[in-house]
Amino acid sequence: MKIVLPGGTGQVGTVLRRALTAAGHEVVVLSRRPAGDGEIPWDGRTLGPWAGAIDGSDVVVNLAGRSVGCRYTPDNLRAMMESRVDSTRVVGRAIAAAARPPRVWLQMSTATVYAHRFDAPHDEATGVIGGTEPGVPGYWGHSVDIATAWEAEQEAADTPHTRKAALRAAMVMSPDRGGVFDVLSRLTRLGLGGPVAGGRQYVSWIHDHDFVRAVGFLVDRDDLSGPVNLCAPAPLPHRDFMRALRGAWGVPVGLPATRWMAEIGAFALRTDTELLLKSRRVVPGRLLDAGFAFDHPEWSPAAADLVRRARGR
Ligand SMILES: NC(=O)c1ccc[n+]([C@@H]2O[C@H](COP(=O)([O-])OP(=O)(O)OC[C@H]3O[C@@H](n4cnc5c(N)ncnc54)[C@H](OP(=O)(O)O)[C@@H]3O)[C@@H](O)[C@H]2O)c1
Repeated sequence: MKIVLPGGTGQVGTVLRRALTAAGHEVVVLSRRPAGDGEIPWDGRTLGPWAGAIDGSDVVVNLAGRSVGCRYTPDNLRAMMESRVDSTRVVGRAIAAAARPPRVWLQMSTATVYAHRFDAPHDEATGVIGGTEPGVPGYWGHSVDIATAWEAEQEAADTPHTRKAALRAAMVMSPDRGGVFDVLSRLTRLGLGGPVAGGRQYVSWIHDHDFVRAVGFLVDRDDLSGPVNLCAPAPLPHRDFMRALRGAWGVPVGLPATRWMAEIGAFALRTDTELLLKSRRVVPGRLLDAGFAFDHPEWSPAAADLVRRARGR
């Protein structure tokens, strides 16, 4: 197949591109700064010659968006929103204008769209969209607003010949440098991989191999469209998640951090504590119902596999 990855130069794009290329597909990446073979320029906002790559392709997986690993300043929040909504709109316009539109358009979204919650997991049918839940900082609503606007933009696109699905993905765990697993691993190996703010908050995650398999499953299954949760079926509290990661690295201790220590750490790392403190208890209801079987359903063995690959990097 010919598969186009707008924004495919980042962490998730690296994972997908590697796997899809290895499987023999032709992969075209759209980037604002194309650097190598298979990368072509676009601006993420306006139609241009890049749209020719979409015409005649089989699949589009749009990954573009300003990184959420930043301080949530007004400028950064605006960039997070606009880069997602604008790129989704223009991808939709390119598909609508194509003489031979792709069969499938998978659009990245995020598991963060769901409410901060401990008591029950969110699946697509019964899950509660966040933004109005009590007891959380009001500004956490921005991430939900961004995710819902992002999904609405895809939903609104008039692409009658192209099936659309929104990927409500949890953190994609891969051993690549700079990714979330790498960052958590470095902290863990420094002895800083303890629970944060008590560690009750749930962590949803997906192993990179299952992420790639789930994308392939969604490409193949003509009956699946709309929002789909991409996460392992066993989210777990942050304290257990970090304990398993310490175990995988063979690190006996992890310094616990209070909420205030996390605030200082997040400030130093130019990121936001929402990424650590929001309870994301999300499960892959639709994937499981459709018969998708995870190769890495549980975190401890998944972490062991990722550590083994990171050591061999
Ligand atoms: N990583 C995860 O675990 C995870 C989980 C759930 C959802 N997501 C979402 O999935 C998407 C991909 O994640 P990722 O981790 O691969 O992100 P990433 O590493 O930050 O890469 C995203 C790519 O988007 C492009 N981009 C950045 N700012 C842009 C802008 N203003 N306009 C157009 N393109 C822009 C960049 O490509 P160029 O600089 O080459 O143009 C960048 O490589 C993101 O939208 C993210 O929010 C990620």
